[in-house]
Amino acid sequence: MGKGNGYMLCLFLVFFLGEGLSKGVQGLACNWGLQSTHPLQPSIVVKLMKDNGFNKVKLFEADPGALKALANSGIQVMVGIPNELLAPLASNVNNAINYVKQNISTYVSKGVDIRYVAVANEPFLKTYKDTFLHTTFPALQNIQAALIKAGLGKQVKVTIPLNADVYESESGLPSSGDFRPDIHDLMMSIIKFLSDNRGVLTINIYPFLSLYADPNFPVDYAFFNGSAAPVVDGSISYTNVFDANFDTLISALEKNGFGSMPVMIGEVGWPTDGDPNANIEYARRFNQGLLDRIIRGQGTPKRSTPPEVYLFSLIDEDNKSVQPGNFERHWGVFYYDGAIKYQLNMGHGRGLIPAKGVKYLARQWCVMSPGASTSDPNFQNSINYACTYADCTSLGYGSSCGNLDAKSNASYAFNMYYQTMNQRKDSCSFSNLSTITTVNPSRGTCRYEIMIDLGKHERPSNHAPSAAGRKQHFPLIMALVLVLTLIV
Ligand SMILES: *[C@@H]1O[C@H](CO)[C@@H](O)[C@H](O)[C@H]1NC(C)=O
Ligand SMILES: *[C@@H]1O[C@H](CO)[C@@H](O)[C@H](O)[C@H]1NC(C)=O
Ligand SMILES: *[C@@H]1O[C@H](CO)[C@@H](O)[C@H](O)[C@H]1NC(C)=O
Ligand SMILES: *[C@@H]1O[C@H](CO)[C@@H](O)[C@H](O)[C@H]1NC(C)=O
Ligand SMILES: *[C@@H]1O[C@H](CO)[C@@H](O)[C@H](O)[C@H]1NC(C)=O
Repeated sequence: MGKGNGYMLCLFLVFFLGEGLSKGVQGLACNWGLQSTHPLQPSIVVKLMKDNGFNKVKLFEADPGALKALANSGIQVMVGIPNELLAPLASNVNNAINYVKQNISTYVSKGVDIRYVAVANEPFLKTYKDTFLHTTFPALQNIQAALIKAGLGKQVKVTIPLNADVYESESGLPSSGDFRPDIHDLMMSIIKFLSDNRGVLTINIYPFLSLYADPNFPVDYAFFNGSAAPVVDGSISYTNVFDANFDTLISALEKNGFGSMPVMIGEVGWPTDGDPNANIEYARRFNQGLLDRIIRGQGTPKRSTPPEVYLFSLIDEDNKSVQPGNFERHWGVFYYDGAIKYQLNMGHGRGLIPAKGVKYLARQWCVMSPGASTSDPNFQNSINYACTYADCTSLGYGSSCGNLDAKSNASYAFNMYYQTMNQRKDSCSFSNLSTITTVNPSRGTCRYEIMIDLGKHERPSNHAPSAAGRKQHFPLIMALVLVLTLIV
């Protein structure tokens, strides 16, 4: 084959793989959390990821259902180890060996493409005080040793997802970034260990939380489209907090002799409910800006190579702790059921594709009876009861159902309880204040949900995840190469 042909073939393949990006061949990465009262079927979630071009996923635990569905899916997996498991894993390498045997090797041998084990989750978060200070690094070392013993030392790398509060900047400028003094030496040991074992540093960055924590935070600086007044740091002008935050870490690494340490973003995203700044408009603006950067392959001023970015999150989780805030249950790009919240351009003009094959409970809602009164002595108790067992985070100030009158408010609470209890007959009987309706009470931004049918009597699904995208494309590439060769 002459030079020209080779060149054309190359061009063609570049074009083809470029196209493939939007089809999920190269793709995007996301977090898949499981703290839902009514989780989607894992096979539906895997299909949802593939349909939307996600080919990497981070799990917070070695969940058997999720891992089974990910087998032979073409999706690369990062398995998280919850903080509660750190102490035993740190205390004895045999515990780590057992952990890897039961939760990693088993799945690798079943066709799950596990690439990372994420030891702990934000273990040095200031609010945890020193709880995980002495167990995180030994657990990391033991897991690494166990992976090597299991013959997975090359294939599976270790990391620790850290909150961005492990570093700071005295001057407030990225160039004076360094690790927090109280954990500086520990961070050095961990980074050296990761570096020696070809591991990666993982950081979670949350511009939303910057805005949430500080009412004077300049709103535009949380987003990516360059409209904020710049923060000037020597020759660099920062117009968004994401770049500034990431480069603070890069400066900290450079300052300590690890300037080329690979870094990934383990979590980044924007919630849509539960706080005035957590809304659809801001979430779309942030996530679209983020996606555009990922698709362009854009890095930061101090590191032009783009980091791997795990979007937080794929779907909402209605059973997450609201201790950080009511927004905590609304980080999904999709609702709890895989329905679309807002459209995103996923590259090459492709939009989001919702989950398919979701089975719902009957189309009926539990609402306040027309005849019942808000001055009924059981009124407030009934709402409180409903909201103790179901998710009422959309009712707060500035949230999607924050403008309801008292009756609609009660209806929302009653319905959430009724749906969360799988529309059980006795779960819509709030001291005779409630009744069942088939008229959808949703209005404006406020959605009165119908819950997913957990399908206890459902037929077992033979809806196996479809074959790997990459595998499907391979014969196609070969065929096209053949055709091209014949033409030229
Ligand atoms: C919700 O979370 C609580 C506390 O973490 C847990 O005890 C409970 O089992 C969870 N409920 C469901 C339905 O997953
Ligand atoms: C993983 O393995 C350990 C045994 O070391 C076990 O206790 C744990 O429950 C397993 N599963 C998960 C999801 O971590
Ligand atoms: C940035 O995006 C927001 C929201 O989409 C828009 O209002 C604003 O005008 C944009 N600014 C620039 C400079 O594009
Ligand atoms: C609606 O219910 C929530 C949750 O109980 C409560 O915080 C809020 O004040 C209620 N609003 C109205 C208008 O009754
Ligand atoms: C609800 O109504 C029924 C029938 O009208 C009545 O027997 C029952 O005592 C009422 N329950 C409450 C808690 O008010």
